[in-house]
Amino acid sequence: MYFIANWKMYGDLKSIKSLNKVIKFTRLNKRKKFKIIYCPPYTLLDSFSKKIKKTKIELGAQNCHFEISNGPFTGSISPTMLKKIGSNYVIIGHSENRSTGETNAEVNKKIKSSIKSNLKVIFCIGETLIEKRKKLTNKILYKQILKGLYKIKNLNKILVAYEPIWSIGTGVIPKIDDLDKNVTFIKNVLKKHLKVKNPKVLYGGSVNPKNVENLVSIKAIDGFLVGGASQKAKNFIDIVKKTII
Ligand code: PGA
Repeated sequence: MYFIANWKMYGDLKSIKSLNKVIKFTRLNKRKKFKIIYCPPYTLLDSFSKKIKKTKIELGAQNCHFEISNGPFTGSISPTMLKKIGSNYVIIGHSENRSTGETNAEVNKKIKSSIKSNLKVIFCIGETLIEKRKKLTNKILYKQILKGLYKIKNLNKILVAYEPIWSIGTGVIPKIDDLDKNVTFIKNVLKKHLKVKNPKVLYGGSVNPKNVENLVSIKAIDGFLVGGASQKAKNFIDIVKKTII
């Protein structure tokens, strides 16, 4: 099971202290099978990277540019830069970036360069509320998967995060049956159309220590992408505990 902490545009040097509890938790549970990946803002990647050395926790970034190494792209960070600073993962295609204009084609270019830079990709997909109401969810997910992963070879380096947009930051999660069906649909598309042998699909959107008890009943889910609830160590640890213990 994967547990990804997406800190979004939150956190400063002081907030790194909250990692102490999480590091302790991972040491106490080192026999259990789970992976924790922290995705803080770019400004904290270096400090996080030093802090998690010699622990089982891994580091990820929240986005990157599609240019693999360097270039005249003011304000951007390349996948190679992320790798060099100690990131092993990068989130790509988050709806908060898609909503400001990131297209499926750009997502595809970013994924390609990230994989070339030896990063693993947390590839976000999900439908809006209007699309859900119009029963377009499968169509949207299918399109996002096929366009986002177009001509990508190392698909074993991709973790898909299914995040219905209407669930992110709203406190509302999908009905368990619907979520089960959607995660299974995503896995089938990856298996049948892209020949991924053992696809990994996580769920994200308002996951908290309470609702995770219901979410874990869905066997097809391979982990959680956690936003708000990942900022407090106790909440994040509770989510992990309720899933793996
Ligand atoms: P949330 O965010 O847990 O705060 O809903 C999840 C995400 O955006 O990845």
